[in-house]
Amino acid sequence: MLTYLREDKILFTCDFFGSHIATTDLYVSDEGQVYEAAKRYYAEIMMPFRTTIQKNLEKVNNYTVNTIAPSHGPMYDKPEFILKAYHRWAFDEPKNIVVLPYISMHGSTRQMVEYIVVALAKRGVTVKQFDLTVTDIGKLAMALVDVATVIIGTPTVLAGPHPNVAYVAFLANALRPNVKFLSSIGSYGWGGKTVERLEPP
Ligand SMILES: Cc1cc2nc3c(=O)[nH]c(=O)nc-3n(C[C@H](O)[C@H](O)[C@H](O)COP(=O)(O)O)c2cc1C
Repeated sequence: MLTYLREDKILFTCDFFGSHIATTDLYVSDEGQVYEAAKRYYAEIMMPFRTTIQKNLEKVNNYTVNTIAPSHGPMYDKPEFILKAYHRWAFDEPKNIVVLPYISMHGSTRQMVEYIVVALAKRGVTVKQFDLTVTDIGKLAMALVDVATVIIGTPTVLAGPHPNVAYVAFLANALRPNVKFLSSIGSYGWGGKTVERLEPP
């Protein structure tokens, strides 16, 4: 629910267009910093509701807005900056980019990851790798906003994917990114149900 103050053309948007930035600046001063934080907020909180976001962006188009005042993060005195960003995130077709979250206990899956990264790069495909032993999970969520493909790299552990990978797969599925292709690669010793367990329900 948004509130529009007609006299001053301020749109109070609550969570919409928000960012997790605690600052004494009332208005956006560093667009780069706010862009990152707003994209992260979009990825972690808004992305599952993309169709609702699209409808609300169209509604906002009907109003002249001088200021957007979300309940989290600084206010936008130049609203076109965040409106354009939201339009891209919510409406654009995903790009030919691969997000590759992976883990490897003994290096075999890592070798496969290195091989596929080189093979894709040779074909002009950008790959964003995330080693899940050190990944900031919010950054992975951000990467999922505008990519067409996810490849998950995991060894088989106790007959399924590595627990860190299972966690990431669960989270990525809950965020419902606009991904077109999903694949998995990985090494195993004797067998199990890694691929079946990774399949979205
Ligand atoms: C704790 C543990 C559990 C494992 N469980 C399985 C399993 O259930 N099935 C299997 O095929 N391999 C299992 N493996 C073997 C690994 O999948 C195999 O060594 C694989 O090559 C490791 O890949 P990595 O080098 O990328 O870590 C297990 C290995 C470990 C250390």
